[in-house]
Amino acid sequence: MERHRPFTLLARAYDRIMDDVPYEGWARFVLAVLGGEGYFPRSVLELGVGTGNALAPFLERGLDAEGLDASEAMLQIARSKLPGVRLVRADFRDFDLGRRFDLVYSAFDSLNNLTSPEDLRAAFARARAHLHAGGWLAADLNTPEGLRELGREEVWEEEGVRLVYGYDPASGLGRLEAWVNGEAEVHLERGYTPEEVAVLLEALGFGPVFALTYPDAREPDLLADRFWVFARAPA
Ligand SMILES: C[S@@+](CC[C@H](N)C(=O)[O-])C[C@H]1O[C@@H](n2cnc3c(N)ncnc32)[C@H](O)[C@@H]1O
Repeated sequence: MERHRPFTLLARAYDRIMDDVPYEGWARFVLAVLGGEGYFPRSVLELGVGTGNALAPFLERGLDAEGLDASEAMLQIARSKLPGVRLVRADFRDFDLGRRFDLVYSAFDSLNNLTSPEDLRAAFARARAHLHAGGWLAADLNTPEGLRELGREEVWEEEGVRLVYGYDPASGLGRLEAWVNGEAEVHLERGYTPEEVAVLLEALGFGPVFALTYPDAREPDLLADRFWVFARAPA
């Protein structure tokens, strides 16, 4: 099977597959949680901006918004939808945009594409370096339980797109084979628990750090499939 880099073939079908994703709800939720902390961001950087869907609600609210992503194919679509917005091709682990933001945002488990805690730590360190003092990180992540659950779904198919899910208990990695018009790309994801993520963030000086489920804003329990982590950069 010929393999393509992650989020190249899928870029063409991405928006069609994601048409029921609550991008607006996520933005409202994150801004409400931060508002509850007395924080009202005016600028935002999205890590893993993809085709721009998760950043759009912030632009609609007038925030100064930028995004970065490793996939040129995804960025091309985002650029056509969000003209005038700075969208940079870069890697979570070593990006340097030369400026700071009030909020670093990451939606739809983009950070789970980092398959080791060391890589996730590197991304959090870069996030911290791009936050103003007292700014916030808000990121949505899959748990190991969430990836195990997804692995049981096995196949999703629609109009030339076939998504084959799997989970390898030995490595703890979720695997997605995305077939688009007969060609495939493979995505690997590692699940993270709220506790693991909090340890990494607190070691970098973030605090407070807390996790909530969407949309009910509860503390995630052991069966939670995903959660939002909120972490404040040192003042
Ligand atoms: C599931 S998509 C989410 C896109 C968008 N945030 C959304 O909610 O629709 C994950 C995105 O993360 C990007 N990505 C994965 N690993 C990355 C890395 N190491 N550095 C930068 N971007 C990465 C992919 O290219 C992809 O566009």
